Amino acid sequence: MTYVVTDNCIKCKYMDCVEVCPVDCFYEGENMLVIHPDECIDCGVCEPECPANAIVPDTEPGLESWLKLNSDYATVWPNISVKREPPADAKQFDGVPNKLEQFFSPNPGQGDAITEHVGDPGSAKTHPISNEHPSHGQDP
Ligand code: SF4
Ligand code: F3S
Repeated sequence: MTYVVTDNCIKCKYMDCVEVCPVDCFYEGENMLVIHPDECIDCGVCEPECPANAIVPDTEPGLESWLKLNSDYATVWPNISVKREPPADAKQFDGVPNKLEQFFSPNPGQGDAITEHVGDPGSAKTHPISNEHPSHGQDP
Protein backbone atom coordinates (compact mmCIF):
# COMPACT_ATOMS: atom_id res chain seq x y z
CA MET A 1 0.00 0.00 0.00
CA THR A 2 0.90 3.63 -0.06
CA TYR A 3 -0.50 6.94 1.03
CA VAL A 4 -1.94 9.24 -1.62
CA VAL A 5 -2.55 12.96 -1.87
CA THR A 6 -6.11 13.78 -2.84
CA ASP A 7 -8.36 16.61 -4.04
CA ASN A 8 -8.18 19.01 -1.13
CA CYS A 9 -4.45 19.53 -1.54
CA ILE A 10 -5.11 21.39 -4.78
CA LYS A 11 -4.58 25.13 -4.26
CA CYS A 12 -4.03 24.58 -0.53
CA LYS A 13 -0.57 23.04 -0.79
CA TYR A 14 0.37 23.63 2.82
CA MET A 15 3.51 21.49 2.53
CA ASP A 16 3.58 20.47 6.19
CA CYS A 17 3.69 16.91 4.87
CA VAL A 18 7.11 17.18 3.24
CA GLU A 19 8.78 18.12 6.50
CA VAL A 20 7.91 14.84 8.20
CA CYS A 21 8.36 12.27 5.44
CA PRO A 22 11.36 10.09 6.36
CA VAL A 23 12.00 9.05 2.76
CA ASP A 24 11.30 12.37 0.97
CA CYS A 25 8.81 10.90 -1.44
CA PHE A 26 6.73 14.01 -2.11
CA TYR A 27 6.77 15.63 -5.56
CA GLU A 28 5.57 19.09 -6.36
CA GLY A 29 3.17 20.30 -9.00
CA GLU A 30 2.21 23.89 -9.61
CA ASN A 31 -0.64 23.77 -7.10
CA MET A 32 -0.53 20.39 -5.34
CA LEU A 33 1.84 17.66 -4.22
CA VAL A 34 1.81 13.94 -4.88
CA ILE A 35 3.40 10.92 -3.19
CA HIS A 36 5.50 8.43 -5.13
CA PRO A 37 3.74 5.12 -4.39
CA ASP A 38 6.89 3.06 -4.88
CA GLU A 39 8.91 5.19 -2.50
CA CYS A 40 6.36 5.63 0.28
CA ILE A 41 7.06 3.25 3.15
CA ASP A 42 3.54 3.57 4.59
CA CYS A 43 4.71 5.03 7.85
CA GLY A 44 1.63 7.24 8.02
CA VAL A 45 3.23 10.19 9.76
CA CYS A 46 2.25 12.64 7.03
CA GLU A 47 -1.48 11.93 7.26
CA PRO A 48 -2.20 13.85 10.48
CA GLU A 49 0.19 16.65 9.51
CA CYS A 50 -1.90 17.84 6.56
CA PRO A 51 -4.11 20.76 7.64
CA ALA A 52 -6.36 20.05 4.66
CA ASN A 53 -6.76 16.35 5.45
CA ALA A 54 -5.75 15.60 1.89
CA ILE A 55 -3.54 12.58 2.62
CA VAL A 56 -5.16 9.18 2.91
CA PRO A 57 -4.06 5.55 2.81
CA ASP A 58 -4.88 3.84 -0.46
CA THR A 59 -6.70 1.15 1.48
CA GLU A 60 -9.68 3.50 1.54
CA PRO A 61 -12.18 2.75 -1.23
CA GLY A 62 -12.49 4.74 -4.44
CA LEU A 63 -8.96 6.03 -4.63
CA GLU A 64 -7.85 4.33 -7.84
CA SER A 65 -7.82 7.52 -9.90
CA TRP A 66 -5.93 9.40 -7.20
CA LEU A 67 -3.39 6.62 -6.91
CA LYS A 68 -2.84 6.83 -10.64
CA LEU A 69 -2.51 10.61 -10.54
CA ASN A 70 0.03 10.38 -7.69
CA SER A 71 1.93 7.67 -9.50
CA ASP A 72 1.95 9.47 -12.85
CA TYR A 73 3.00 12.89 -11.64
CA ALA A 74 5.55 11.65 -9.10
CA THR A 75 7.70 10.65 -12.04
CA VAL A 76 7.56 14.03 -13.80
CA TRP A 77 7.33 16.62 -11.04
CA PRO A 78 10.38 17.63 -8.95
CA ASN A 79 11.03 16.29 -5.49
CA ILE A 80 10.22 18.51 -2.53
CA SER A 81 11.41 18.02 1.04
CA VAL A 82 11.56 21.59 2.28
CA LYS A 83 8.39 23.47 3.18
CA ARG A 84 7.87 26.92 1.73
CA GLU A 85 5.13 29.50 2.23
CA PRO A 86 1.74 28.06 1.25
CA PRO A 87 -0.36 30.01 -1.26
CA ALA A 88 -1.74 33.23 0.23
CA ASP A 89 -5.28 32.13 -0.59
CA ALA A 90 -4.87 28.55 0.67
CA LYS A 91 -7.53 28.94 3.36
CA GLN A 92 -10.12 30.12 0.84
CA PHE A 93 -9.73 26.90 -1.11
CA ASP A 94 -9.71 24.55 1.86
CA GLY A 95 -12.78 22.36 1.51
CA VAL A 96 -13.88 23.56 -1.92
CA PRO A 97 -15.31 20.51 -3.73
CA ASN A 98 -14.15 19.10 -7.07
CA LYS A 99 -10.92 20.96 -7.22
CA LEU A 100 -9.45 18.42 -9.61
CA GLU A 101 -11.92 19.37 -12.32
CA GLN A 102 -11.71 23.08 -11.64
CA PHE A 103 -8.14 23.84 -10.72
CA PHE A 104 -5.72 20.95 -11.26
CA SER A 105 -2.54 21.97 -13.04
CA PRO A 106 -0.28 19.39 -14.69
CA ASN A 107 2.61 21.86 -14.60
CA PRO A 108 5.54 21.11 -12.30
CA GLY A 109 6.22 23.12 -9.19
CA GLN A 110 9.63 24.45 -8.28
CA GLY A 111 10.54 21.59 -5.95
CA ASP A 112 13.61 22.07 -3.80
CA ALA A 113 15.06 24.31 -6.49
CA ILE A 114 18.00 26.29 -5.24
CA THR A 115 19.40 29.57 -6.45
CA GLU A 116 17.73 29.20 -9.83
CA HIS A 117 16.86 32.89 -9.79
CA VAL A 118 20.26 34.01 -8.56
CA GLY A 119 22.19 33.63 -11.77
CA ASP A 120 25.56 34.14 -10.14
CA PRO A 121 28.03 31.83 -11.88
CA GLY A 122 31.08 33.24 -10.16
CA SER A 123 30.18 32.66 -6.55
CA ALA A 124 29.90 29.19 -5.04
CA LYS A 125 28.87 30.35 -1.61
CA THR A 126 25.19 30.81 -2.25
CA HIS A 127 22.81 28.28 -0.81
CA PRO A 128 22.42 26.40 2.46
CA ILE A 129 21.01 23.14 1.19
CA SER A 130 23.93 21.11 -0.12
CA ASN A 131 25.20 18.94 2.68
CA GLU A 132 25.73 15.79 0.66
CA HIS A 133 29.46 15.73 1.18
CA PRO A 134 30.21 16.10 4.87
CA SER A 135 33.94 16.22 4.34
CA HIS A 136 34.26 18.37 1.31
CA GLY A 137 37.67 19.67 2.17
CA GLN A 138 36.71 22.75 4.10
CA ASP A 139 33.87 23.21 6.47
CA PRO A 140 32.56 26.71 6.89
FE1 SF4 B 1 6.23 9.71 3.50
FE2 SF4 B 1 5.34 8.10 5.43
FE3 SF4 B 1 3.68 9.80 4.24
FE4 SF4 B 1 4.59 7.70 2.90
S1 SF4 B 1 3.26 7.65 4.69
S2 SF4 B 1 4.45 9.78 2.13
S3 SF4 B 1 6.67 7.51 3.73
S4 SF4 B 1 5.44 10.33 5.51
FE1 F3S C 1 -1.06 19.21 0.29
FE2 F3S C 1 -1.61 18.73 2.79
FE3 F3S C 1 0.82 18.41 1.95
S1 F3S C 1 -2.44 20.38 1.58
S2 F3S C 1 1.00 19.93 0.36
S3 F3S C 1 -0.91 17.26 1.28
S4 F3S C 1 0.23 19.26 3.91
